[in-house]
Amino acid sequence: MQIQIPRGTYDVLPVDAFAWQKIEKTAREVCALFNYKEMRTPIFESTNLFQRGVGDTTDIVQKEMYNFKDRGGRDLTLRPEGTASFVRAYVEHKLFGLPSQPQKLYYIGPMFRYERPQAGRMRQFTQFGAEALGSADPSIDAEVIALAMTFYQKLGLKSLNLVLNSLGDPESRAAHRDALIAHFKPSIGEFCEDCQNRLEKNPLRILDCKEDHDHPLMATAPSIIDYLNEESREYFAKVKAILDEMGIAYELDPTLVRGLDYYNHTTFEIMGASKGAITTLMGGGRYNGLVSELGGPETPGIGFALSIERLLLALEVEGVQLSAAPSLDCFIVAIGEKAENKAPVLLNQLRQSGLYADKDYMERKVKGQFKQADRDHAKFVVVIGDEELEAQKAVVKNMADGTQEDVAFASLTDYLKEKLTTIDGVK
Ligand code: HAM
Repeated sequence: MQIQIPRGTYDVLPVDAFAWQKIEKTAREVCALFNYKEMRTPIFESTNLFQRGVGDTTDIVQKEMYNFKDRGGRDLTLRPEGTASFVRAYVEHKLFGLPSQPQKLYYIGPMFRYERPQAGRMRQFTQFGAEALGSADPSIDAEVIALAMTFYQKLGLKSLNLVLNSLGDPESRAAHRDALIAHFKPSIGEFCEDCQNRLEKNPLRILDCKEDHDHPLMATAPSIIDYLNEESREYFAKVKAILDEMGIAYELDPTLVRGLDYYNHTTFEIMGASKGAITTLMGGGRYNGLVSELGGPETPGIGFALSIERLLLALEVEGVQLSAAPSLDCFIVAIGEKAENKAPVLLNQLRQSGLYADKDYMERKVKGQFKQADRDHAKFVVVIGDEELEAQKAVVKNMADGTQEDVAFASLTDYLKEKLTTIDGVK
């Protein structure tokens, strides 16, 4: 039996890998523009990090985590998201003690959730995320949103809809929580078992339930916006004012509660063009209690994450083509045994001098070698045979216009570099 790839995962084939590289490069460039530095954390963590960080009553922790015991009996989990890990590392390495605050950090890497796979919902997916730890300045809320927007726009996405909400501070949330319990309690029997369990523990999660989404009590549920205390309202007003000044449009959605427990104050999502039901490209928000929850000092934080899989779908729907893979500078065509022996040496010299170069490895005839040069989009073909070896020169063919010239081996790299400069610019 042929072994197949696990459900909900996929291979990035060579033809598609260039788009991934381009996206990752753009992410790194935008992070540099905004002064966010990369941090890398492990792909597995202690299970209780996510139980405490993401929250025991969330779908992620209850239903979607890849948990396992290692040979030493430790409870470990393939990370379902990056924020809890970053906060753990921030606390563990005492990054809060560094003079440079906030710590503005980013990651690109695989995450794992046992979900029902469909387009844009995978079991292994790749998140690009940014986290700013240590500042409660509302302008940093606007900054992380602007970072994500800039990233999408640089890649050519146009259909982007920013949705914004505030979950307020702990006092506001407590007031809202009481109101939610009072609202749902009399009819909680009509809700799913999960919701029944969540009523006392975390009624906000009921609003996020996929099963009871259409229950009439959902639409009439008390809105967090009506329970924000003055401080929370003021904070949210400042964030909105900065976004207005920056010219970043948004829609307010008081039902945007997000699926993870650590949020307070600003929450947001970016919706995009999509073929299927899934339109959320990116999600994030403020999590001022998470650092202290995970054993650090009281420290504010905010961030977002987006997946490259959903971004690729949106690019496809909007018809955005990321430009093709880079082509070869030159391809060596060798004719006869002597030339075949010389080819690897010459090839190595070309590569050492910084040229993207290749040759045939399949014992192809001359025509076949030229075909391979074409498949690699080679700009020049360097032909060597007995005669050329004798004269210590090569025939160099410009594949764009078909012209060819004899060039001495000694000046081959200089010749190619000069020609390439006129084609490519700097070489
Ligand atoms: P999240 O909303 O769970 O938030 O995920 C963020 C983004 O990851 C989603 O908007 C979506 O683009 C992508 N995503 C999630 N699940 C899948 C999946 N199964 N397949 C493909 N893409 C997926 C978080 O993860 C938070 N850590 C975000 C954050 C960072 N909040 C503050 N800082």
